[in-house]
Amino acid sequence: MILGAAGSLYAAADNDPLRFDPDNFTRQTITMPDGQNISFKAYEGIFYVTNIQDSTYQTLNIYVPDNLAQIPRVPILMRTYVGGYAASTAKSPSPADATGRALKQGYVVCIPGSRGSNSTVSKDGKTIYTGIAPNGLLDLKAAVRYLRHNDDLIPGDAELIFTDGTSAGGAMSSLLGATGNCNDYADDLRKMGAADARDDVFAAICYCPITDLNHADMEYEWLYRCTDNGVRNLSPEQIKISDELAALCPDYINSLCLRTEDGTPLTAGNYIEYLKTFLIASAHKALQEGCEIPDSIGFTFYQDKFGPMGAGPVGQRPRTDDGRNAPSFGPGNMPRFNKTSDFVTGLDLDKYLSYVASVTPLKTPPAFDQMGVIINTPSPENKVFGNENGDPANFTDFSLRHRLHDPDASLDPEMARRVAIMNPMNYIGSGHSDVAQNWYIRHGAKDRDTSFLVPVNLATKLINDGKNVDFFIPWNRPHSGDYNLDDLFAWIAATIR
Ligand code: DHB
Repeated sequence: MILGAAGSLYAAADNDPLRFDPDNFTRQTITMPDGQNISFKAYEGIFYVTNIQDSTYQTLNIYVPDNLAQIPRVPILMRTYVGGYAASTAKSPSPADATGRALKQGYVVCIPGSRGSNSTVSKDGKTIYTGIAPNGLLDLKAAVRYLRHNDDLIPGDAELIFTDGTSAGGAMSSLLGATGNCNDYADDLRKMGAADARDDVFAAICYCPITDLNHADMEYEWLYRCTDNGVRNLSPEQIKISDELAALCPDYINSLCLRTEDGTPLTAGNYIEYLKTFLIASAHKALQEGCEIPDSIGFTFYQDKFGPMGAGPVGQRPRTDDGRNAPSFGPGNMPRFNKTSDFVTGLDLDKYLSYVASVTPLKTPPAFDQMGVIINTPSPENKVFGNENGDPANFTDFSLRHRLHDPDASLDPEMARRVAIMNPMNYIGSGHSDVAQNWYIRHGAKDRDTSFLVPVNLATKLINDGKNVDFFIPWNRPHSGDYNLDDLFAWIAATIR
């Protein structure tokens, strides 16, 4: 123990502006959808850095349930509400999402605010944009450090932090999971006055992460090109951009050096078959749960091979080609041979993607780094990669070259650095960071906000790197998050067991 200048045994801690005050709370209650009241202590508006640039956003809230889980190590759910790469204030827990559910489970909840593309402060009569990349991520990393720094005072175990976010927030969660303790962020965090503590996390929950931004345009066009006939109606100019982008994707896929589950190299050549296995698994589970899947959206079903009534006598399970019992469906595992209730045998991906595009119109090319290519409107991503004056910017060589009409243009080194440190794919398996051991990744089966390649590559890279990954493409889900909380919280419980 260190004796401080004032002679008090605790002076060192008392003078620490990042020290958590266990006595400074209010009492709050939320009512869950089932009517249950959940009461908790609320510690709100805590600054997690000492050099505060934007006091609206650089705070966090901590919620400690009265009925703390009676388990040796209580996890902390750190939920970010970042959306659209915009700023997000520290919010209160909601009965409708994972924060309320976590409190009900007796877990501690932390909701940090963070700067983003639209956060500004006035300085000397000038408007300063505070949340340009990577500042939002740095804020969230500083919040993790705050929890670690105060692990002895805050209930819950800072070695069991689960980050959770949706969309751009899912991207932030994936970055928190991938970049723990990485030197690339250390200087910035020090300048911000973040706590001098580790910032790796135990688990990352990522709903529809809008990430791998500098490859997302090519991944989008490579996948969705097939829908250009009829559903998408691109202009000749857009088709040209789409074709150029799509042509870049195979090299990118091959450069990732990913492997499928059985160790086969995953390449542009076998990628579509690989992707189809995830979509088929999704449809398969939906059928098991009693969903009807129309014939028109590309799936083929068991009875297509064996006739409408299936094979074998009634009451006997159909058999697959290799003789194993086929999976059974429906209540009581009774085999059903209705038109759409058997198991999925194949998928016409073009047909399925056209269906996805018919539900929500696709983005136009380039889907993300769009500014100055065909239209001048900046995307959320152009804004977050902008500068402190609020000028949006390109973040790929491809779009920069088109905007400048200069085939040799490339991002300046500082922009290339900012783009690189905002991409979790650069860190998984790199040896330059402490990557979370546990990952829960979801991307809805009818979510077209980014290409299916983005979550599939993220999950595959993590699996290849030996992480514990629960990845699924839930049937009929649009771009959304914090759904199927029973499933999520069963996974959390299994992960901390
Ligand atoms: C979000 C959605 C997008 O389509 C996008 O490009 C960026 C962010 C979002 O919902 O956070």
